[in-house]
Amino acid sequence: MTITIVGHGYVGLVTACVFADFGNKVWVIGHTEEKIDRLKKGDPIIYEPGLKELLEKNLKSDRIHFTTDYQKPAAESEIIFITVGTPPKADGEADLSAVFEVSHKIAKNLRREFTVVSCKSTVPVDTNKKIEQILLKEKPDNVEIAVASCPEFLREGTGLHDTLNPDRIVIGSNSKKAIGLLLDLHEPLNGKRVITDLASAELIKYTSNSILATKISFANLISFFCEKTGADAETVLDAVGFDHRIGRIFMDPGVGYGGSCFPKDVKALLQTGKNLGINVNFLQAVEDINEQAKINIIQKIKKFSPGKKIALWGLSFKPNTDDIRFAPSIYIIENLVKNNFIIKAYDQIASKNIERIFGKQIELVQNPYEAVKNADALVIVTEWNEFKQADLMKVKKLMKHPVIFDGRNIYEPANMKKLGFKYFSTGRKTIL
Ligand code: UDX
Repeated sequence: MTITIVGHGYVGLVTACVFADFGNKVWVIGHTEEKIDRLKKGDPIIYEPGLKELLEKNLKSDRIHFTTDYQKPAAESEIIFITVGTPPKADGEADLSAVFEVSHKIAKNLRREFTVVSCKSTVPVDTNKKIEQILLKEKPDNVEIAVASCPEFLREGTGLHDTLNPDRIVIGSNSKKAIGLLLDLHEPLNGKRVITDLASAELIKYTSNSILATKISFANLISFFCEKTGADAETVLDAVGFDHRIGRIFMDPGVGYGGSCFPKDVKALLQTGKNLGINVNFLQAVEDINEQAKINIIQKIKKFSPGKKIALWGLSFKPNTDDIRFAPSIYIIENLVKNNFIIKAYDQIASKNIERIFGKQIELVQNPYEAVKNADALVIVTEWNEFKQADLMKVKKLMKHPVIFDGRNIYEPANMKKLGFKYFSTGRKTIL
């Protein structure tokens, strides 16, 4: 097949490379020439494990093509996917301007007898209908279109693995022909097929992300209880998770969920609910607890840090990505800087992105040991593997005070006691 992907972010580029690798001809449309030039040279721009190699391989095989021009891709493609961003507006509602802007451009350039336009961007219920209206109004008279919602469930950091091993493939459309073409395209992939209407497909993605965010907020709420009562959050959550109806996955307490999906999707569903007159207090609580999780660690640092010099490990919103969108690190740094803390931070790939926000307000260093030199306390924000078995004796020697605030529970309290650290973790007893 020949397909087009509009957008080359974490979803767009991963999807494009995977379908190109299956032997399809894939066009990727962007809107910044400079970025398209980099992509043509094999630079994925974003960091996603394995993506650079897959991009280079498919560029070499001439199966993936990058452009800013809609003409050829739209005229040639059987399926066009929209994978542009839908960031939150000030009120939390999803900003759909990019989705609609590209829909206009697609419409004007359609030439095939029949084209499927399928939205992979996470969009509120009814958006695909609006895309359809734009396409029908602006397309040439002699061509036919059908829209389909095909939500994407990949996680950053494991994007290729998730795309190649989906739990389910959701296709929402009123057109049998569109469903047939999308099923053909996804044929090499395993996973349950869910064929449904547009609105259900749109809602599936928000439901999925909101339930996952709820599990995390529930774990954080329970960790607050544990900190007040002396119970151990990890033990409580492990025991609860053994119940198959609940499961332990996505119940790791910490400094709150971040990233480009959970924060914005919970907010967007909240706003859609409000617009529909639905009581959304439950979702509001999920979001409030997430804010409280970020505040929780800041309060501990302010109260128990023996000085103002802080080493910070991990800046990305989760390991294996350079993405800092809605990363808890941003909130933590902002607050600490406001309270006159001096921060030396380390992250193996997200530092450049953080520098764009904070400039010289914090010092960014090249390795974790450099960060802890002379520090009054170490704060662990992201659970990168390299921190899990760091040389803690060396860390202790380099620090001014052996104090750790662990926002991700990566160490065993008993071991920290043995090593002589003051260790504040999440939902577990403090080691003094
Ligand atoms: C998420 C969904 O998992 C994915 O299906 C969807 O397509 C996009 O949104 P992503 O945001 O890439 O993926 O990462 P994810 O692994 O879900 O983590 C999101 C945030 O939750 C991270 O900040 C992570 O640290 C946090 N988290 C996750 C927890 O705090 N505790 C957990 O138990 C799990």
